[in-house]
Formats: sequence, C-alpha cells, structure tokens
Amino acid sequence: MVWVTWRAAMQEALYGSRGFYARGEPPAAHFRTSVHASPRYAAALLALLREIDVSLGHPARLDLVDIGAGRGELLSQMLGLARRGPLSGGQLPGAPPAGYPSLAERISPHAVEITPRPDGLDAQIRWSRSVPSRITGLVIANEWLDTIPLDVAELTSDGPRLVLVNTATGAERPGPPASGGDRAWLRQWWPLRSIGDRAEIGSARCAAWADVIGKLAGGLAVGVDYGHVRAGRPAGGTLAGYRDGRPVRPIPDGSCDITAHVAMDACAVAPASTGTGATGTATGTGATGAAQTTVTTQRVALRALGLRGSRPSLGQAGHDPQGYLAALRRAAEESELTDPSGLGGFSWLVHAVRVPLPACLTLGGHTLGGHTLGGDTLGGRAVPGGLMPAGRAIDAFAPAVDGRSATPLERWADG
Ligand SMILES: C[S@@+](CC[C@H](N)C(=O)[O-])C[C@H]1O[C@@H](n2cnc3c(N)ncnc32)[C@H](O)[C@@H]1O
Repeated sequence: MVWVTWRAAMQEALYGSRGFYARGEPPAAHFRTSVHASPRYAAALLALLREIDVSLGHPARLDLVDIGAGRGELLSQMLGLARRGPLSGGQLPGAPPAGYPSLAERISPHAVEITPRPDGLDAQIRWSRSVPSRITGLVIANEWLDTIPLDVAELTSDGPRLVLVNTATGAERPGPPASGGDRAWLRQWWPLRSIGDRAEIGSARCAAWADVIGKLAGGLAVGVDYGHVRAGRPAGGTLAGYRDGRPVRPIPDGSCDITAHVAMDACAVAPASTGTGATGTATGTGATGAAQTTVTTQRVALRALGLRGSRPSLGQAGHDPQGYLAALRRAAEESELTDPSGLGGFSWLVHAVRVPLPACLTLGGHTLGGHTLGGDTLGGRAVPGGLMPAGRAIDAFAPAVDGRSATPLERWADG
C-alpha cells in the first residue's frame, strides 16, 4: 500500500512510465470531448484562426498549437478543412491579396502531447512533449488543464493539510500541513472555512497556463475546460475517473483517466501575476499591457463564431433530401457542442496578446485589460472599473449573439 499526495498520485497514474496517458491510451476510447463530438468544432476554431490571421497581418508562418492534443484529431480536422477552404486570397475583406500563400500553406500545426505520435498522422503536423518557445498564431488547449495533477487540501483542527491517497484503493487520510505557497493559493482562490472543508489546489495549472501565455508572442490562446470560479467552488471537490466511456471511482492506479475541474479565474490572472513574457523583458504580457483576457462559456463562444444549431427548413427535404439530412445532422452536432448542460457549459479562457480580442468574443467592456489587472480576480473581487461584480456567473458576461452581422464561420465559409 502506498500513501502519497494526490498530485504525486495523479502524476504517476497518468504520466509515469506505465501511466494512463504515457502508455498511449487514446482519450476518445474513454470519454467524449468536443473534438470527438463533431468536426463543426474544428470548423469554428478554424474560423477563429482566420480572424487571428487577419489581426496578425497574414504572417508567412501562422502557428497553430494544440496542447494536450490527444491523437492529433483537432489539428488533422482543422488542416483538412483549411486545405479544402475556398479562399486563396483576395475574395473577402480581410483576406490576403490574390496570389498570396493560402492559410493552409502558411499554417504551422504543432501538437504538444506526452502520448507518442500516432501512426499515419499528417506529416505537416509537428509533435513534441513541450510547448514551442515562441508562438505567433493560435494556441488551443482543449481539456488539457483538467488533467494537470493537483493536490487536495482539507481543513483540520490544526489548519489545512494535504490529503494522502492510497494508490491501490483510492482510500484517503490526512497528510502533512499545506505549505506556505499552498496556503496562500487557498486563501486567495479557495478559502477553507469549516473543519472538513476540502479544496483542490490549482497552482500547478496556473503556472502551466502562465507559461503558455508567456510563450505567445502574438495571437490568441484558448483554454477550454469544465471550470468554476471563486463565487461557486464545488464543496466536495471534483476529482473524477473515466474508463471505457464510463465515469469510475478515481483510483490513481493507472487504470483510468483522473481529472478535476479547473479554477478558471485563478488561471485567468496567472499570466499577469507571474510576469512571464515571450518578449524576454521579464515584465510579462500583463505588465506590457499587451494582453487581454476574457472568460466565457463554450455555448456563447461557439454561437458567436457561428454554430447556431439552426435546423434546415422542411421545404429543403422535398427538393434536396440529402442536403436536408446533412444539415439536420449538422444542427444536431452544433446543439450538442452548445448544450448548456453539457459541452456548452464548458468555460473558454481566452487571452489575446498583441492583437485585439476578436470582435465576436469581445464582451462589451467586461474583458480584462492585462496591464490593469493588478491582483484582482474574476468573480470574487472587484476588477478595474467595477466591471465584474462578485458572485456573477461567468455566463453573465457573455455578449448577446447579434443575429444580423455575419459570424466568422459565415464570413469565411469554413466547413
Ligand atoms: C483529456 S485529454 C484531451 C485530448 C484532446 N485535446 C481532446 O480534446 O480530445 C488530455 C490530453 O492532454 C495530454 N497532456 C496532459 N498533460 C500534458 C503535458 N504536460 N504535456 C503534453 N500533453 C499533456 C494527455 O496526454 C492527454 O492526451
């Protein structure tokens, strides 16, 4: 029987030499992410990439980095769609001039993944275990942050203690006192008030996300995960296990995925507070005033990008039955991706560095200007200008979807 902290147990169970991910378990065999749910997800993200391309002035190399890329499914889909894309330049406002290399020719796709490179992956996709040191383009991390190992703390009569877990049975018992750093994180982000209160210490995720944003020289980073904010932390914690498509008890023995929801507000301000930056100035994207941050839900973000789940008109069934069925299937897939009680309820954490936040994701004054963040937080404390009252759900900051203007998907006709 081995008793270790949850962070050590997750690290070994997922990424140790015989760990769940390290040995190459394909995520799609065990659970369903937006990437597996529908290629419409890739289409929406490609439309977002096209918006970033315009903002960056059509760089000769446009990085597309997928962190925690699984089997590279998302990059493969986006690349395939980009190659099929009708645009080679010059047709639309914001598109590069005719004759300029197409987006597909300029995309530099890079999968960051611990799992070995799958056979048969498109040769254009680079595959590595570490995040590239300088990125200009779009970073996507779909369900990555939730798999970063974390510790669990419980408030005891002599202060917060780390919880130890038995790696063979999943049984728990109190361990050593939480360190000064852990206590500071708990005080700021997940205060423990009564004996027995339990919290998941997200500092390793904050550091990992800050490191990614620090490597973003220009463009957008989007972290998508199930999350919570300080105003509504889940009382009993969120540790969960998944195997063969079913939720299972999170026993850290390498037999299942182990995951915990993400403290999105803490990750949102981490890049500004750690002062890392791709500029090499050590002042950080936040301190340079170059970053803007916003948190919204997947439902809001995807609808703004153009996934409306609209059903085709019944009239189409008569003259174009095949087209009608395809449109119906598409509508069903878009509904799944935007279902507020499912994938649509996921949080989107978006950082823009040296480009404006895309208009479709701009939350009418509720974005966070990196240089003015200071020590403020989402959801729990005031932010500059009082734009984020305590306790409001992050969805409350969503823009109303404007039904009149073209969405990025419509503008770029992807997919
Ligand atoms: C939940 S899966 C998500 C896969 C894919 N993004 C999707 O949405 O279908 C998380 C993936 O992140 C990978 N991962 C976790 N930590 C990582 C790290 N530090 N570096 C690279 N990959 C990591 C795991 O190996 C796993 O494939």
